[in-house]
Amino acid sequence: MKIIQLSDTHISQLGGVTADNLQKFITLINDINPTLVVHSGDIAILDPDNNGDREFAKQLLQGIQAPLRVIPGNHDVGERPENAWAGLVVTPERLNAFTSTFGPDHWLELAGNWAVIGLNSEIMGSGLPEEDAQWAWLETIAAEVGERPALIFTHKPVFNPYPQLTEHNIAIPDESRRRLLDALTGVTLAGFGSGHLHEYAVSTQQIDGTEAVVVSAPATGFAHGGLGGPALAQLGIVEYQLGEGEKRGAVQPFFRNLATLTEVPPTEIAEFTAALDHLGVTL
Ligand SMILES: [Fe+2]
Ligand SMILES: [Fe+2]
Repeated sequence: MKIIQLSDTHISQLGGVTADNLQKFITLINDINPTLVVHSGDIAILDPDNNGDREFAKQLLQGIQAPLRVIPGNHDVGERPENAWAGLVVTPERLNAFTSTFGPDHWLELAGNWAVIGLNSEIMGSGLPEEDAQWAWLETIAAEVGERPALIFTHKPVFNPYPQLTEHNIAIPDESRRRLLDALTGVTLAGFGSGHLHEYAVSTQQIDGTEAVVVSAPATGFAHGGLGGPALAQLGIVEYQLGEGEKRGAVQPFFRNLATLTEVPPTEIAEFTAALDHLGVTL
C-alpha cells in the first residue's frame, strides 16, 4: 500500500511560486494514486490569521483525488508560547479557524492493515484544554488500532534530529514525546513522519525493541538547509510503501520530486516577503 506525505506548502492567496509548485506536486500525487494523502502542516504561507491564504490552499488541495487528511503546523495555528515564532502563539480561536476549514487536527485512519495517526504537535506543551483533549483521545485509540502497525504524523518532529541546537521549537517538547510514547504503549510504532524542517532525512529509532522508521519530509514550497546532520534540502514529497503479508509492518520511504519545480530561497518569493511585511517581521 502507498501513502503520500506532503508538507510545508506555505500557500499564499496571492499565488506565486509555492502555489505553482503545489499544483505540480498534485499532478504527481494523482499519478502515484495513493490510498491516503497526509499534509503535515504549514499549509498557509506564514500568518495563521489569514483566512484568504487558508481558503485558497483548501481550493488547491481539492485537486488531490485520494482521501486527504491534514494536521496543522505553526503557521496554521501558532505554537506553544515558549519561543513562538513572531509571537504567534496557539489559541482556541486559531485552532477553530483551522478545523472549520480542514477538519479535525488529530485523527486515526485505518487503511488496509495499517493504522495512520495524525496529531497536532502545535498544542503540545501549550496547556490549552485542546491539548488535554488530544491526550485523552490518544489514550483511547490503542484498542481500535489493535494489532495493526502504526504510522504517526506530526508537524514538528517527535524525535529531535538536531539535539546540538538549543532552539526549543525544532521538535515537540521532551515531556510530550514521553507522554505520546506512553499513551501508545502496546501499539506497534512502525514509523514517524514530520514536517517543519523543510529538509528530507530518514533514520531509525528503537522503541520497546521495535525499529521505527523516522522521516523528516521535505517542503513543497521552499527548502531550508544547513540545520545539521545528513539531510536533503530540496523540494519534494514522501511516498511510503507500507508492507502487507510477509512484509507486514515494513515502512519504506521514497523521496519524490519533479524536474520542473521553482526552487528559490523564501526571501526571493514575493508572496513570502509580502507576508513577512504584513506580520511586521524582519529576518
Ligand atoms: Fe514550514
Ligand atoms: Fe513549521
